[in-house]
Amino acid sequence: MATMLAGLMVALPLLTSSVAGFSPRSLLQVPNTYPNLTACLSQPLTYSCENTTVIEDTCCSPTPGGLVLSTQFWSLNTGLEKEGQLLPKGSWTLHGLWPDNCDGSFGQYCDFSRQFDPSPSPSKLPDGTVIPPYKGPSVETFILEFGRLDLLDYMSKYWINQGAPNSDFWAHEFSKHATCTSTFDVACYGPDYKQHQDVIDFYLAAIRAFQEYPTFDMLASVGIVPSNKTTYTLSQFQNALKAQTGATPYLGCGSDGTVLQEVWYYSHVFGTEQFGHYKTLDSVDPSTCSSTAPIWYYEREAFSEHEVRNTI
Ligand SMILES: *[C@@H]1O[C@H](CO)[C@@H](O)[C@H](O)[C@H]1NC(C)=O
Ligand SMILES: *[C@@H]1O[C@H](CO)[C@@H](O)[C@H](O)[C@H]1NC(C)=O
Ligand SMILES: *[C@@H]1O[C@H](CO)[C@@H](O)[C@H](O)[C@H]1NC(C)=O
Repeated sequence: MATMLAGLMVALPLLTSSVAGFSPRSLLQVPNTYPNLTACLSQPLTYSCENTTVIEDTCCSPTPGGLVLSTQFWSLNTGLEKEGQLLPKGSWTLHGLWPDNCDGSFGQYCDFSRQFDPSPSPSKLPDGTVIPPYKGPSVETFILEFGRLDLLDYMSKYWINQGAPNSDFWAHEFSKHATCTSTFDVACYGPDYKQHQDVIDFYLAAIRAFQEYPTFDMLASVGIVPSNKTTYTLSQFQNALKAQTGATPYLGCGSDGTVLQEVWYYSHVFGTEQFGHYKTLDSVDPSTCSSTAPIWYYEREAFSEHEVRNTI
C-alpha cells in the first residue's frame, strides 16, 4: 500500500504537467518494448505454418519453427530438496517452449554465439558438430542485469530442474530451442539490442504460454487429482484437457506407459512468440501412455513440494 501511494504521488504531478504540452509518454517513462515490430504490419496476416504466401520477415512469425510446443512436467521430486529446490504445490512445472517445424521435425542449438548450456544435450548436432559446453556466468546473472527479480522469482517457483540447479535447465532451454526460434533472433532487435534481452524475452514468452495451460487445475476440475490409490485412463486425461484447450495435447508416460510424466501443448502462433496469439492444436506425436492399461498420476511427498501461490 505504501508503495502504491508513493507511485501515485509521483504520477499525479506528471499527468498534470502533460496538460501543459509535454508528452505524457516521455514523462511517464514508459519503457520501450523490444523487438520493434513496426515492419511486421506489412507482412501477411496469418498463423505460423498456415501462410499461403512466403513469410519474408522471419522476425514477425516463427519461421521455420512455426509449430510451437509449450511443454510441462509432472515430477515427483527434484533430487535437490535438501538445497531447497522444491516443486510448486498444486502445479505442474514448466519444461520449455519449442519451435518444431511445420512437419514436426525440429532444429536445435542453432546459434553457438548464444550457447549458454553448461552440459549440452545432445552433445553433438546430427552432422557431428560438437556443441561447446558453456563456462561463463549463469543465465541467472542475465536476468539480474535486467533487474527482473519478478521473473527470477517466478522461474524459481515453476521452472524446476532435476538433480542440478534450475539455472542449468533455463540455460539449456534457451540455447537448445530459443536460438532456433526466428522471432528471438538478435537481428530482430536492431541497433538498440541490449545483450541478453532475447534471453529475458524468451523466458517471459515461455511463462505466458505455460500460464495458458494450467494442467493441474484443468485436471483437478474434473476430479483428476494426484493419487497413489486410484488410477486413471489416457482418455480421461485427454478429454479433460481437450475440454479446456480445444485440442488433444501429447501426454508422456514412463514405466511402460503407466506413469504420467509430461504434457506438450501444440499451437500455431499469430505474430511473434513474444507477443502473439497461440492457437492450440492436436498433438502430432502419438502418446507414450498406454491406451488400455491404468495410468498412475502419482502424489508427491510433502518434503518435495512447497506452497508458492501468492494470495491475490
Ligand atoms: C520502429 O521501427 C520503425 C521502422 O520500421 C521506425 O519508424 C520507428 O521509429 C521505430 N520505433 C521505435 C519506438 O523505435
Ligand atoms: C510460409 O512461409 C515459409 C517461409 O517464408 C515457407 O517456408 C512455408 O512453406 C510457408 N508455409 C505455407 C503453409 O505456405
Ligand atoms: C506415490 O508413489 C510414488 C511411486 O511409487 C512415490 O514415488 C511417491 O513418493 C508416492 N507418494 C506418496 C505421497 O507416498
